[in-house]
Amino acid sequence: MRSLALLLLLPTAVSLYYAMSAAPLAGAAAIPVPTAPRSRRSSFIVPMKRRRGTTMLHTKNASAVFDPTHAKEELQMILVKYQNASKILKNLLPLPPQDGVAEHPLIGATPIASAPLATAQDAPLVIPPILVASGTATMPLTDMVLDGLDVLYYGPLQIGTPPQTITVDVDTGSADLWVPARCATCMNKQFDPSASTTYADAGKQFAVSYGTGAVTGVLAQDVVAVQGLAVQKQAFGAVTSESDDFDGYPNSGLLGLAFSSIASSGAPTFFENLIEEEQLAAPIFSVFLARGEETGSEVCFGCMNPVKTLGDISWIPVISKTYWSIALDSVSVNSTMAPSTNVVAAIDTGTTLIYLPEQLATELYDMIPCGRQAAEIGPEFFTYCCDIDFSVSLSFGGEPFALNMSDFNMGPAADDSSSCVGGILALGQGFPSNLAIIGDEFLKSWYSIFDYANGARVGFAPSVNNR
Ligand SMILES: *[C@@H]1O[C@H](CO)[C@@H](O)[C@H](O)[C@H]1NC(C)=O
Ligand SMILES: *[C@@H]1O[C@H](CO)[C@@H](O)[C@H](O)[C@H]1NC(C)=O
Ligand SMILES: *[C@@H]1O[C@H](CO)[C@@H](O)[C@H](O)[C@H]1NC(C)=O
Ligand SMILES: *[C@@H]1O[C@H](CO)[C@@H](O)[C@H](O)[C@H]1NC(C)=O
Repeated sequence: MRSLALLLLLPTAVSLYYAMSAAPLAGAAAIPVPTAPRSRRSSFIVPMKRRRGTTMLHTKNASAVFDPTHAKEELQMILVKYQNASKILKNLLPLPPQDGVAEHPLIGATPIASAPLATAQDAPLVIPPILVASGTATMPLTDMVLDGLDVLYYGPLQIGTPPQTITVDVDTGSADLWVPARCATCMNKQFDPSASTTYADAGKQFAVSYGTGAVTGVLAQDVVAVQGLAVQKQAFGAVTSESDDFDGYPNSGLLGLAFSSIASSGAPTFFENLIEEEQLAAPIFSVFLARGEETGSEVCFGCMNPVKTLGDISWIPVISKTYWSIALDSVSVNSTMAPSTNVVAAIDTGTTLIYLPEQLATELYDMIPCGRQAAEIGPEFFTYCCDIDFSVSLSFGGEPFALNMSDFNMGPAADDSSSCVGGILALGQGFPSNLAIIGDEFLKSWYSIFDYANGARVGFAPSVNNR
């Protein structure tokens, strides 16, 4: 199964798309966002090149009983992944007023100025064909689907000279890049430093705690590339030991795409280096996550893919350049709303589910008929009556963003049970009381754009998944 997953990632499986936009570039901070994403005039597509037989549909079986294994593992993981969140977010209360995109003082942050764009000011903005021109690149992602759950999304990075292809989990919730190298206990394909002529060891230890264990190794430096976008001296952890939490996952390493202010290495991220070196057509990356399909997901560096969206982009200012953190205003069930004050939501592609502060999660399930805490599964879990029709939305920037209820419904709590387990869990002890973690369950419905310019902001556009 693992070798199959790696096969899918051969460069020949790279998806192609061409996107053009006629929107004017207002200045250095403008990004190539098409005004009419679906119109023929502003975009055209070259059909995806797919290897025959690699597209597998894993339709969720709504009557399959909920299996708590992954959710429980993930709870352990995020407990450690967000172990520094209290420190990082503690100076953020109360949240600054959310009108406009005013810069908020950075919390212990390395200031990363948004680099001026290479594109000439006032010139018509064009996102060029990605395989021909510089400034954009698409990393195809593979969705690891397990029992109908989209567990994680990973894609190929090229590291070293000559390039070695290593797969990484794309994670907007952390800021370190690491790959296994000379690691005796690691299960997946590794990077071989001795086969790279450009590899350099920075002579420092590298360690990040994730899950119940950690990854440790040395801080290294080498060429890291996605298609034509290459950072010559990218810092990364060459990991010689990883805890067994990582066994059973198909990816080799992890690509952190949050702000380097929270990087354990202290080094700029791959994305930040691309900005600093003025390699990108725009200081953005965008994420499309497919639902229940191994292929089709992607990260667009320096670009967005209008073909994956169904409407306008809503922009929400980033509160602190640490996580991709935005204010969560409220949660709603149908039109009933529970306001949430001072809740900071980390937009995290590296997390499968959605986690809310315990109080808010409780208020949410109180609005759902027969919603209740399901202590028999775990204190973080809630169930509700399966046969009830309702919608759940999270509100950012004063606007509601609905979940797809097939993502929210994690299945009946037990055989023949009329109670279903909800995909929104509570963050209790060990987490800051104002932290929410918004994972793939939400991002499958909302194509997301991460913009370093404009004071840093996150854009959501309806995903084609919700056609
Ligand atoms: C769905 O799950 C139920 C219960 O586990 C099982 O009986 C049924 O055969 C499954 N259906 C499909 C289409 O897999
Ligand atoms: C939290 O901070 C400590 C000390 O700075 C660091 O060693 C650790 O790796 C950090 N954890 C994460 C998950 O970033
Ligand atoms: C939510 O709205 C739908 C559609 O209007 C309705 O059918 C459903 O009964 C409502 N559910 C609840 C729990 O209010
Ligand atoms: C929710 O997801 C399911 C499964 O992919 C899809 O069939 C359905 O159209 C989606 N619903 C909405 C409202 O987008």
